[in-house]
Amino acid sequence: MKVVGKPLQRRDAWDKVTGRTRFLADIPRDGAWCGGVLRSPVARGRLLRIERDAGFDWSQVVVITAADLPGPNTVAMIREDLPLLADGEVAFVGQAVALVAAPDRATLTAALTALHPVIEELPPVLSITDALGAGTVIWGEDNLIADYTIAPPDMAAFEAAFAGADRIIEGEYRTGYQEHIYLEPQGVVAVPRPDGGVEIAGSLQCPFYVLNALARGLGMERDKLVVRQTPTGGAFGGKEDYPSVLALQAAVLALAGGHPVAMLYDRHEDIIASTKRHPSRTRHRTAMAADGSLLAVDIDVVLDAGAFTTLSPVVLSRAILHAAGSYRLPLVRIRGRAVATNTPPNGAFRGFGVPQSIFAAERHLDRLARELGTGPLALRRRLVLKAGDVLPHGQVLPEGGAAGSLVLERAVELSDYQRRRAELDEANAEAAGRGDPLRRGIGVSLIHHGAGFTGDGEDRIATVVHVRGEADGAVTVLCSSVEMGQGAETVLPAIAAEALDLPLEAVRYHQPDTSAVPDSGPTVASRTTMVVGRVLVDACRDLVEQAREHGSDPRAVWSARAAAGEPLTGEGRYQPDPDIRWDQEHHHGDAYPGYAWMATVVETEVDMDTLEIRPGRVTAVAEIGKAINPVLCVGQIEGGLAQSLAWGYLEEIRLDGGRYLNDRLATYIIPTCLDAPEFTVELAEEPSPRGAYGAKGLGELPMNGGAPALAAAVEHALGAAPDAIPMTPDSLLAVLQKSDREGRP
Ligand code: MOS
Repeated sequence: MKVVGKPLQRRDAWDKVTGRTRFLADIPRDGAWCGGVLRSPVARGRLLRIERDAGFDWSQVVVITAADLPGPNTVAMIREDLPLLADGEVAFVGQAVALVAAPDRATLTAALTALHPVIEELPPVLSITDALGAGTVIWGEDNLIADYTIAPPDMAAFEAAFAGADRIIEGEYRTGYQEHIYLEPQGVVAVPRPDGGVEIAGSLQCPFYVLNALARGLGMERDKLVVRQTPTGGAFGGKEDYPSVLALQAAVLALAGGHPVAMLYDRHEDIIASTKRHPSRTRHRTAMAADGSLLAVDIDVVLDAGAFTTLSPVVLSRAILHAAGSYRLPLVRIRGRAVATNTPPNGAFRGFGVPQSIFAAERHLDRLARELGTGPLALRRRLVLKAGDVLPHGQVLPEGGAAGSLVLERAVELSDYQRRRAELDEANAEAAGRGDPLRRGIGVSLIHHGAGFTGDGEDRIATVVHVRGEADGAVTVLCSSVEMGQGAETVLPAIAAEALDLPLEAVRYHQPDTSAVPDSGPTVASRTTMVVGRVLVDACRDLVEQAREHGSDPRAVWSARAAAGEPLTGEGRYQPDPDIRWDQEHHHGDAYPGYAWMATVVETEVDMDTLEIRPGRVTAVAEIGKAINPVLCVGQIEGGLAQSLAWGYLEEIRLDGGRYLNDRLATYIIPTCLDAPEFTVELAEEPSPRGAYGAKGLGELPMNGGAPALAAAVEHALGAAPDAIPMTPDSLLAVLQKSDREGRP
C-alpha cells in the first residue's frame, strides 16, 4: 500500500501549531449578540417565578423563559425528558431557567444579574445509594433511567453454582466523575435566515444530532436548518450531546431577536453546565470451587446519570457489555442500572461507560488473584479470552479477533514486568529499611473495546459517504465525520487516496456541513476509521465505476465532467452484515463488529509520607486491526492513557448539595506535560474484515487501560488494594487504615 500504513504528517498540523486555525471564538462576528443562560442555584425545587429588577432597561435585551419557547420544550436525544428551560421545577444546580441575548457582554452580564429565579426548595437525591433507595422519587417511578440484564445461558445452573460454591469472593469498586477539559470550550453561533430558518456554526462532534434536536425543539422543517462544524479544539465525547443544548439556546434567542447570537461558554460555565463521565459503583460476586476454579460470576453496574436521560441508556449498554472484562468466565450475569440524581446530567466521555465497568473487572481479577495466591499475571494468562470463546452476551470471538494473549505477552516482555516486579519488591524492602518514604510498584491491565455502535446501531445509522470528482483531477471526501483533534481529516483522505490510487495531496476533505455532506453518522464510538472509512472505500469504488462508463481513464473523466459543471459523485452506503445477529431487549448477540485489545503495564512511585502518586514508565501494546497512520495511532494511545491515568489519581470533582465545588481549572486538576510518564507504545495488527483496510476502532481503547494498571501498581507499592478512583492521598490513607484494621493481603 502506498498511503495506508505510512506515518504521514497530519494535515491540520501546521495551521494548529502556528495558530492559523480559526476556532469559533476567533472568527469575527459582526453584529452578533451575546447569548447567556440564567441557571438554577439549587438542586431541586419548584420554580415559582422569575423576578426582574425594575431599574433595568429590559427593552435593550431579549429574555426567553419556558413560556416563550417557539416549539416543544425539549432537547431531543434518546428521550425527550430534558427541557431546554426549566418549567415549573428544577432538577439540578446549573439547570437553565431563562435565556438572555444582549448587544454586548456587559449588558448581558447586567441583565443576568437583574434576573432572580424564585425557587421553593425540595429535598434532593444526591447519591447512587439514595437514588436506589427510592425514598424520594425524582424520575419515573423508581429513579431508574435504564435497567438492563445480560442473563447467563442457564439460570438454574447459575443459582446452583452460587448455592454450592466453596467460597464467594465479593468486591465493590467505585469510579468518580471526569470532566473533558477539551482545549476549546463549548460554543455555537446561530444566524437567523430570511426564510425564517436558522444556521448554526459550532464546535461539535455530530452535526446531524444537532440538526435533529433543532428540528424537534424549534418545530421547524429540516430544509430551513443548517449545521456547520467549525474547527473543533477537542471533544472526547463532551461535544457529542451537549452542543444540541447550546444550539437550541442560541437558535431560540436568534429567532426571537432577529440578530445572530453567539453562545460561547467560558471555562467556568462550561464545567458547571456541560456533561461529565458518569460516576459508577460496581459489585462483583464470584462463586469459586474448592480447587480454585471459577463457577459463576454476578456483576451489578450502577451509573449515576444525573437528572435527565441524555445518552445514559447507551452508555450503560456499552458498560455492561464489557463488564466481565477480557476473560473467559462461566455463567455470567450482568445487571446494569442508570439512576437519576439531582445533579447535572452526565453524558458521553471517551470509553462511554467501559472505563468504569472494566476498572471494576480488572480490580476484581486482582482480588481473585490474591484469594487464589497466584500473581495477577498468572491469573490473566489462565483466563484470557481466546478465539472461539463466547462472551457473556453470546458473541463468539472469531479467529483473528481475540488478541488478548498476544498483547499481554508482548507488553510483559517489553516492560520486563516479572523482573521489574521482583526488583521493586527488593528495592521497597531496602527503602523501608533506611526510612525512605518512596515505594514503587508495577501493575498490569488487560482490556478490550468494541468499536462502532452497539448491536444493530450501525444498521439504523445507515452511513452514507460521498466522493466527488473535481475539475483539477482531485477528489473531495464528503461525510459528517468531524476532525476534533483525533485525525479524521488526515486518515479519511488517506483511505480515499489508497482506494483511488491518488497521491494524498489530490484528496480534499470537506468540513462537515449538513447542507453539503451526507449523513455518515456521529463522530463517536471509535467508528470513524473503521466504519465510515470502510464505506468511504465503497464510495471511491463507485466513483471509479461511474467514470469508467464514460472512458478508460477515470481521473480524466471526472475532471472533464466537473469542468463541464456536471461533477461525478461516488456514493458508499453502509451494508448491514447478514451474519450479525443482535437481540436488543436481551442484550444478546453480536454486540460489536470488532474488538481492539490492549495490555498496559504501569510503574509508579508512591510517597508514603504524603501518599502522592507519580506514574513513571508506561508500556502499552495495542492490537488495532490495521494502523492507517501509525503516528496518529500512537498519539491517540498516549493521549488516552494520560487521560485514563489522570482519571485514576488526579482528576476529582467534589459536590456540595449537588453543586460542583471545583468548577474552575484552578481547582479541577489535570495533568500537565510535567506529569506525563515515559511511554513505550507498540502496535499489533490482526486485520478486521469489517474495517477499512482491516482497521478497528482505536480512539476509546486506551481510556480503558491506564487506571486499572495504575491501581494494580499502587497495590503493589502499598501492599493494600485500592478499589476506588481517583486515588487521591486521602482516599489512599483510608485504604491503608482499612487494611491495617483487616490485615494486609
Ligand atoms: Mo464518544 S464518548 O462515543 O463521543
